Amino acid sequence: MYNITLIPGDGIGPEVSEAAKHVVDATGLNINWETVNAGEKVFQDTGVLVPEKVFQSIEKNKIVLKGPITTPIGSGFRSINVMLRKKYDLYSNVRPVRSLPGINTPFKGIDLVIFRENTEGLYAGIEQELPDGSCEAVKRVSRNASIRIAEAAFEYAKKNNKKKVTVAHKANIMKLADGLFLNCVREVSQAYPDIALQEVIVDNMCMQLVMNPNQFEVIVTMNLYGDLLSDLCAGLVGGLGLVPGANIGKDISIFEAVHGSAPDIAGKNLANPIALILSSAMMLNHMGETDKAEAIIKAVTKTIYEDKVLTCDLGGKATTNEITKAIIKNII
Ligand code: NAI
Ligand code: MG
Repeated sequence: MYNITLIPGDGIGPEVSEAAKHVVDATGLNINWETVNAGEKVFQDTGVLVPEKVFQSIEKNKIVLKGPITTPIGSGFRSINVMLRKKYDLYSNVRPVRSLPGINTPFKGIDLVIFRENTEGLYAGIEQELPDGSCEAVKRVSRNASIRIAEAAFEYAKKNNKKKVTVAHKANIMKLADGLFLNCVREVSQAYPDIALQEVIVDNMCMQLVMNPNQFEVIVTMNLYGDLLSDLCAGLVGGLGLVPGANIGKDISIFEAVHGSAPDIAGKNLANPIALILSSAMMLNHMGETDKAEAIIKAVTKTIYEDKVLTCDLGGKATTNEITKAIIKNII
């Protein structure tokens, strides 16, 4: 039996996490889900953003499936998502972006993975207002964090027979901070003579991704750029409803979709649960349950390609519950 922490989150989080839980259970694995919640709704109800039992559960179970958590814009509390990644040193944010058959998009055959540095950069949270009323945000880049995300990307490339890793950076402008990141990636690449390193400045990277995304296999980049590029890449394959993610640390890992809490469609049974369902497949792979992970991926593919059950974001009419039921039916 596995013990897994489930954090439903805010907005569409409870809907998609319920769906993912049922799909994982349908594989026949014996899972004890420990449900604890954090975020905006918990704060409204209890006055606490992250109750102590959330930390205790994460630390005990070490594997977490998490729905999105709302973060107020401009003021209010800092992102719980970013806090958890920093607190548990979940240094590698892995976001596979793949074309799925049966989805109507301008591109076919996209198969790339983004490795986003997940603990520092402009998301280090070092901000202050200066006496003259201007504000500054510090971009903190360390050698240690840059080396380990580069190693994660190259190791993935090696294991999966990829020929190229692309680093997206802005070292022409931020010569020290992005320069250090780039130099660390170059250094790590030396140990992988069979894998080419392609260096692309991040603004050009956006254009290349929109014009010819099939040229990319593995992308390694800094925290902010990785955040932006992953939403861009989600748009290439049919939107945020489809792209999963994992925050991997040495000890603890949190699996969550790329998307946020989608307040515009929350509570309406409209959300596409596939992104979190595919995140749960990443979780099962991480646990060594590769057959069960494969069963989930096949069931998702059959549901959208053969059965043509699609949610609104994909141009269909199916509700969250309907597509979840269809996926569960296809699990063999
Ligand atoms: P969002 O990703 O929640 O939504 C962007 C657009 O995509 C919306 O139109 C939404 O309806 C649509 N969308 C997203 N996921 C979908 C799904 N599964 N099915 C169908 N449509 C989907 O981004 P937004 O609106 O910028 O952020 C909303 C909140 O989420 C903010 O408070 C933000 O801080 C938070 N957020 C949390 C994340 C996390 O917990 N890891 C990640 C990103 C944002
Ligand atoms: Mg994001």
